[in-house]
Amino acid sequence: MLEISDLTHSYGAYQALGGVNLTVAEGELVCVVGPSGCGKSTLLRSIGGLLRPTGGRVLVQGRPVEKVPDDLAIVFQDYSRSLFPWMTVADNVSLPLRRRGGDRRSRDTAAMEALEQVGLPAAAGKYPWELSGGMQQRVAIARALAYKPALMLMDEPFGSVDAQTREDLEDLVLQVRRSSGMTIVLITHDIDESVYVGDRVVVLSKSPATVVGDLRVELPEPRDQIATREHPDFVHLRAEVGRLVRGMRSGGPAAAETGAETGAEAEADSPELDPATAEPAPVAPKA
Ligand SMILES: Nc1ncnc2c1ncn2[C@@H]1O[C@H](COP(=O)(O)OP(=O)(O)OP(=O)(O)O)[C@@H](O)[C@H]1O
Ligand SMILES: [Mg+2]
Repeated sequence: MLEISDLTHSYGAYQALGGVNLTVAEGELVCVVGPSGCGKSTLLRSIGGLLRPTGGRVLVQGRPVEKVPDDLAIVFQDYSRSLFPWMTVADNVSLPLRRRGGDRRSRDTAAMEALEQVGLPAAAGKYPWELSGGMQQRVAIARALAYKPALMLMDEPFGSVDAQTREDLEDLVLQVRRSSGMTIVLITHDIDESVYVGDRVVVLSKSPATVVGDLRVELPEPRDQIATREHPDFVHLRAEVGRLVRGMRSGGPAAAETGAETGAEAEADSPELDPATAEPAPVAPKA
């Protein structure tokens, strides 16, 4: 479904992605974790066709990504900027469906179904600013669901909601995945979350980011917020992911544990570029 090979991206002189290789199978839910500022969003934007990488290749369903693929939906962390305040919740959810054609009635029906899936049918006629943060993020997820994408990209989608809502939304994503079979790439900086929702956890190094760990999660299904987190395999995996992330931060021998790429360690202590002075990348032709 998704094949990323030797993906690099530089913002001016600053290299954010240092050759990322990653394959995601149809129907898989892959979590990507990594230190703050390592290039997770850059990777996601490259997959989503929002950014033209400076090198390497991204294939979605066998086709190179040159613009935003038709079968793709993205959920961003900042729900307050991803919904239009002047449109009702229902209109926000049905808006992208215009791209698919079809009449108004079928778009409205699909929007209502998606709002029911996220438990917000009663909010259809409200405006985003009348809802809590967690509800707004549910609307953003409903909008992605209504579109029925083959691939859903989520960039720290639960980063700005409270702990209880976060757990509810994690379970919502698991339930959606079970019922729709869609492929999901979810970026998070929360190690526990990555193990709880993922079929796999991919760990990125500090920038220039490379994949330094790729762990399969084989926890009993359906997952449960209490029982799963107590499971010995969960405890073991979260420690392993934690070691990989921490190992990279301190320049430790983390990658050796998984036999993944090792190039990142040497760069682990290189100073980070001040984002304020970083030059935006010139739009370079795709390699
Ligand atoms: N448009 C841009 N212009 C210049 N530099 C950028 C730009 N976008 C990101 N960067 C830099 O590239 C690096 C990777 O950024 P990115 O947003 O991909 O990281 P991230 O892992 O998503 O970070 P976070 O954990 O904070 O969300 C950072 O050092 C950032 O400052
Ligand atoms: Mg980010």
